[in-house]
Amino acid sequence: MKLWGGRFQKTTDKLVEDFHSSISFDQRLYRQDITGSIAHARMLGQCGIITTEEAAQIIAGLEQILADIEAGTVAFEVGAEDIHMNVEKILTERIGIVGKKLHTGRSRNDQVALDIRMYLKDAVKATQQLLLTLENEILQLAEAHVETWMPGYTHLQKAQPITFGHHMLAYFQMFLRDLERLTDCHKRIDYMPLGSGALAGTTFPLDREMVRAELGFAYVTANSLDGVSDRDFAIEFTACASLIMLHLSRLCEELILWSTGEFAFISMDDAYATGSSIMPQKKNPDVAELVRGKTGRVYGDLMGLLTIMKGLPLAYNKDMQEDKEALFDAVDTVQKCLLVTAPMLKTMTVRKENMAQGAKGGFTNATDVADYLAKKGVPFRAAHEIVGKLVLECSERKLALEELTLPEYQAVSSAFAADLYDYITVEHCARARSIPGGPAPQTVLAAIAQGKKALEIFA
Ligand code: ARG
Repeated sequence: MKLWGGRFQKTTDKLVEDFHSSISFDQRLYRQDITGSIAHARMLGQCGIITTEEAAQIIAGLEQILADIEAGTVAFEVGAEDIHMNVEKILTERIGIVGKKLHTGRSRNDQVALDIRMYLKDAVKATQQLLLTLENEILQLAEAHVETWMPGYTHLQKAQPITFGHHMLAYFQMFLRDLERLTDCHKRIDYMPLGSGALAGTTFPLDREMVRAELGFAYVTANSLDGVSDRDFAIEFTACASLIMLHLSRLCEELILWSTGEFAFISMDDAYATGSSIMPQKKNPDVAELVRGKTGRVYGDLMGLLTIMKGLPLAYNKDMQEDKEALFDAVDTVQKCLLVTAPMLKTMTVRKENMAQGAKGGFTNATDVADYLAKKGVPFRAAHEIVGKLVLECSERKLALEELTLPEYQAVSSAFAADLYDYITVEHCARARSIPGGPAPQTVLAAIAQGKKALEIFA
């Protein structure tokens, strides 16, 4: 007999039973569900809605069920539909009729909202710890490479010399925003919905504040309809996860590109690469590719959640049961990807010489030649034109800008002098960009120190 079977004369069709059961995936919430029920039962006893002895019996029963689930000795039933009714059913089987008092003043609608919020608060914290590990890895890499010159790109065409440390710090900033975004997201998860009932609250004088405090929430939800209907917080988390994946996928794309023979800026450690079943020479950056690919899954989860919630009338609708698989998938995927990316970065080899060599070609110092002229009083736009012509000439003659002779320079502008050559070395180009936020070694060191400070609040 179903827990809700009173008004039914027929049993549920077997097909329907399978179709609407969520126990296969929501059993993941067993701990939150039982912890929430214990707080609810204690409060019912405290408020005199059930006796304190009844509350104590229920709590002891729930604690035992929790221990047994963790020991792997509890089998859930598809027929009991979801984790909430499975636990309640087992409780009543074990402690008898008093178990049937647990659900007083509560609905599965506010119960499931509570469980997901509790689950997600932990998931946010765990995701932040993984981000923190990745951030520390990035800072170490940056610190080791403040003087590793490399070409910076726009349009994937060589642009200006930068340092590898600086390049890595760009990712540091992205993941720092992700850390902050999760803290912000956590604020809106941190509302305790019990007391909302099915949709209209309850006539029992529940002490919502007591349950909030026991479960460690910052606030109680302010409207019973919204308390059971809101899944914004799950969507927000998945949006945060999507941005983390976006950042990971950009990083991984660069790692993939840099591991090609054409770039050869890095090599993946053997432990983070895989071979080909046919081509003996291959060493493929599969891990980075998978992270890039899994970004699509998380975006899919976000789109799924948004679409499930779109246009739903208040209050609870069964559509909302579909929230869990998408949310769990987003949590699992983003956490796995963060977990694997940190050691992949740590173990890869940075091929400094190739980076420095790469920084040389492609006229990466052309801006600096123009800047040189501008600093000698030539209007920048005119300097740009002069250097553009020199670049054209150099491309035809297959020369680098620093290979032109001084008389050749002076033939196009009398502002050129012998100090030009020191001014336009790759190293000088990078060192001279010491403006705050720039790639110069000293600036990068200062940014690393600031970055370490910024991480302190998340440790
Ligand atoms: N398994 C349900 C879910 O995940 C729990 C809430 C069910 N409520 C209901 N009235 N059917 O959404």
